[in-house]
Amino acid sequence: MKNLTILLGILATMLFACKKVSNSGSILVINQDSLVALSEAGYRPVYHFTPPQHWMNDPNGLVYYQGKYHLFYQYNPNSNVWGPMNWGHATSTDLFNWQDNAIALSPDNAGAIFSGSAVVDVNNTTGFKASANDPLVAVYTIAGTQQQQGIAYSTDGGISWAKYANNPVLPNGGMADFRDPKVFWSALAGKWVMALATGNKISFYSSANLKNWVLESSFGENEGAHGGVWECPDIFELPVDGSATKKWVLLVSCNGGPNGGTATQYFVGSFDGKTFTTETHNTMWVDYGTDNYAGVTYNDLPNTDGRRITIGWMSNWAYAQQVPTTTWRSTMTVPRTFSLSNTAQGYVLKSMPVVEINNYLSSINDTAVSTPVKSLRIDNNAVIKTGSYEIDFTADLNATSNLQLTLGNSSEKLVISYDKAAGQLMVNRGSSGLVDFNNQFAHPIICPFIPPTGGITDFKILVDKTSVELFADNGTRVVTALFFPIYQYNFLKLAGDGTSAVINSFTLKSINKSIAR
Ligand code: FRU
Repeated sequence: MKNLTILLGILATMLFACKKVSNSGSILVINQDSLVALSEAGYRPVYHFTPPQHWMNDPNGLVYYQGKYHLFYQYNPNSNVWGPMNWGHATSTDLFNWQDNAIALSPDNAGAIFSGSAVVDVNNTTGFKASANDPLVAVYTIAGTQQQQGIAYSTDGGISWAKYANNPVLPNGGMADFRDPKVFWSALAGKWVMALATGNKISFYSSANLKNWVLESSFGENEGAHGGVWECPDIFELPVDGSATKKWVLLVSCNGGPNGGTATQYFVGSFDGKTFTTETHNTMWVDYGTDNYAGVTYNDLPNTDGRRITIGWMSNWAYAQQVPTTTWRSTMTVPRTFSLSNTAQGYVLKSMPVVEINNYLSSINDTAVSTPVKSLRIDNNAVIKTGSYEIDFTADLNATSNLQLTLGNSSEKLVISYDKAAGQLMVNRGSSGLVDFNNQFAHPIICPFIPPTGGITDFKILVDKTSVELFADNGTRVVTALFFPIYQYNFLKLAGDGTSAVINSFTLKSINKSIAR
């Protein structure tokens, strides 16, 4: 197989070398770019979580307990397309080095295991405590003839799981869509609170013991985007610009995203333990990219940490089952920290990669820029060729009408650009490699963007084999997109409109990590 890949690579090199020969007058110009064909193994990210094999979708049950981040995920262990859902289970001490464990929850006669959350029951409200460990309780949707909520628990710190004998804990009164419970302990209510996606709204329930639930309120029928039923809610409180003032943020995923297919919107307002009231009435998106869906946040991080960490599913229902990998399908986004800002344009939910990523980065000094330049080009670069790296740069967007970052090889390119006149960022993957597995995939991805006052704008770009995650202006705008190069990329080019030196700083960082689980 390996030999076949190498042979294909050589053939491709010869083919493209021939194609690129042009006869300009008497001078023969030969493009030296040697195209290296990528195999499916070359598509597997190294610092993003992927399932060991087969199909994955939403992150589930994000919970922190005794030094471990648990990541459960919608998993079909038997096929590379969606099917009877299980909860796969991975753990990590740093959100990057994941160990994949035994499947936590599998379908039974009552139904499949759809999305949900997990909590640490510190006060043993469930009575499940059976060891020195606090019980961990998963709250999930039982997807049978109808959707109902069930619970399961672990008394060994999350290694093994038992379903509660008296499930469902929240039966369905006859709704077609009644799923994805996000549960957390509300100090305000002195109870557990559940946010549940119920058709075109989010319903809030409360409980003293995770077993008996009472409907408190519902939100959203006439608010936000409704391109499809609402799914995968989350609700949490964040300080406004790091101050003592706090606001509640409600996440809701649905179809009808800003660039087609599925995406996650958010609302900012107040929550009194029973009812959510929004202060925002325009539709706002967590991520303008096509490939961040069903993102939710960690429960039970220690107060000393204080972060609100999110992970999303890095795909889109419009084409997730067609993306060109066969042995496994889907990746999670990089774990990100949310923060909330009150700006001239209103509230903005910002996201940045968690700081733990820095433990895996090394700066490549020979590519760094420290005095302003008009443009830069890095050719035939070993780090770009690995396909897994971080790019950080700052640019003066007041001094240029456009800025273009191109990653590619002589036949393919992924272009990230800023266009002042249009007031937008764009990720164009139309010529990035394999695109025609779905007719929506090649569309340019547009993200409205106004540079900060003064124009100096920071960009952080994470690339990992088949994904790009763009964080602009300290995470004010985020664009996450998949791409599937046929040949290894080998160059990077960054340029403004050419009239002034707008690139103030630039660093390319390699990622020192191999796939680990
Ligand atoms: C979101 C979703 C959830 C559901 C799960 C099923 O992607 O549709 O609403 O619980 O996927 O796998």
